[in-house]
Amino acid sequence: MRVHVADHPLITHKLTVLRDVDTPSPVFRALVEELMTLLAYEGTRGVRVEPIDIVTPVSPTTGVRIADPKPLIVPILRAGLGMLEGMVKLLPSAEVGFLGMARNEETLEPTTYAERLPDDLSDRQCFVLDPMLATGGSLAAAIEFLLKRGATDVTAICILAAPEGLAFVEEQLHGQDVTIVLGALDERLNEQGYIVPGLGDAGDRLYGTV
Ligand code: PRP
Ligand code: URA
Repeated sequence: MRVHVADHPLITHKLTVLRDVDTPSPVFRALVEELMTLLAYEGTRGVRVEPIDIVTPVSPTTGVRIADPKPLIVPILRAGLGMLEGMVKLLPSAEVGFLGMARNEETLEPTTYAERLPDDLSDRQCFVLDPMLATGGSLAAAIEFLLKRGATDVTAICILAAPEGLAFVEEQLHGQDVTIVLGALDERLNEQGYIVPGLGDAGDRLYGTV
């Protein structure tokens, strides 16, 4: 498993505003989308392309296009939905599938409550979007699900992670072709399983408490 922590002053600046408890939902949503576009640039470094011949106004040349089968973007509902628009802006030809997962706030165990994905993911490159990697339970389960369906390589893009959760995902997915791209690696998890300093509950801050 490869881990890449984005290191860019613009990302750190936007993350600072995102973390601020006084940042209202509309600004929070806009920032998640902007951050996603910046992280998508890092996260798609390994996207598969194939050569294509074109003609410029001056001469023939060879370029590249996104290869088939098209990449699959999988936002984890609910909070991952806030990252989707930023990702499809950069990769408009990708397909989008959905996984709905919720963490039990007492046991911290994830459950999957919705799934809308192709039955066969053989040879597909998948990009999983979830802003928070806390205990790592949700992300590890989501990636395992995609690998079992035949996905060849999976890149997960998260805004924040806790070291404990990252270690858990690494242990669960040892030896698999998985890349994790992070906006920042925070200090730790607290007793309630929240990332410290973190940004609170990403889903609630995006969409309100339900
Ligand atoms: C949050 C977050 C991740 C998960 C991370 O979702 O978006 O999916 O928690 O926690 P973990 O690493 O400990 O599994 P939540 O379950 O709160 O659902 P939501 O997106 O609907 O708010
Ligand atoms: N889920 C969140 O939204 N935030 C955390 O800090 C941990 C899990």
